[in-house]
Amino acid sequence: MEDAGERSNYCENTSDCEEDRGSDNDFETSKLGTKEYWEEMYQKELETFKDIGDVGEIWFGEESMSRVLGWMQTAKIPENAAILDIGTGNGAFLVELAKHGFKNLTGVDYSPASVELARNVLQTECLSDITVKEVDFLNCNRELKEFDVCIDKGTFDAISLNPNNSKEAKKLYVQALRDALKENGFFSITSCNWTKEQLLQRFNEGFEFVQELPTPRFQFGGKTGNSVTALIFKRVH
Ligand SMILES: C[S@@+](CC[C@H](N)C(=O)[O-])C[C@H]1O[C@@H](n2cnc3c(N)ncnc32)[C@H](O)[C@@H]1O
Repeated sequence: MEDAGERSNYCENTSDCEEDRGSDNDFETSKLGTKEYWEEMYQKELETFKDIGDVGEIWFGEESMSRVLGWMQTAKIPENAAILDIGTGNGAFLVELAKHGFKNLTGVDYSPASVELARNVLQTECLSDITVKEVDFLNCNRELKEFDVCIDKGTFDAISLNPNNSKEAKKLYVQALRDALKENGFFSITSCNWTKEQLLQRFNEGFEFVQELPTPRFQFGGKTGNSVTALIFKRVH
């Protein structure tokens, strides 16, 4: 069984409000930022998938995928665009992308169990031609390049929780993303740990802000905030 307490710590900033969340200060790290944590989780999800066919967690819910897919439609991303799902987990987003007609899809994750789970999920959907690779995005030595669109849903959040060196990890992430995207390629990020302002600060070199995708807002104690932030950037010089 998954540890509900640990999961609820994943979105560290969820209850904070916008005005408290403007800076790029680090928050507390956790084992949710470790490979061991994800490997153990996907081992269990893989077993569950094999037993009962449940793909497991859809991080931030189904609407987090439809939100990005809606933007892709509006932005007229062509069906043959090379799309990378960074930290693909169970590969559920790859399935949705394929169902929406996208044909050039790659998913990467550093957890071998996640890769096996995603491959199993894709096979069940008769989508075995989609590439899923075991890759540590922070140490991929430019293996990932020439993508038109990179999608991140919860992975930068996980990387930011890295207990070893989250500051360095975040820098490596930005560099790896720059390497992976073609010039004028798009980056879609959905985060529950970082605000719009913090993400604008993080991705301010080599990226241009394109738009914020609307996400549900909450009100608490007279303050207003978003439970998740979804932004689109474009890779520039
Ligand atoms: C919160 S989960 C999100 C999974 C998936 N994107 C989704 O929306 O369901 C974070 C994912 O990032 C992966 N991950 C974390 N650090 C990574 C890294 N350095 N390289 C590749 N994958 C990583 C984890 O294994 C996990 O699958």
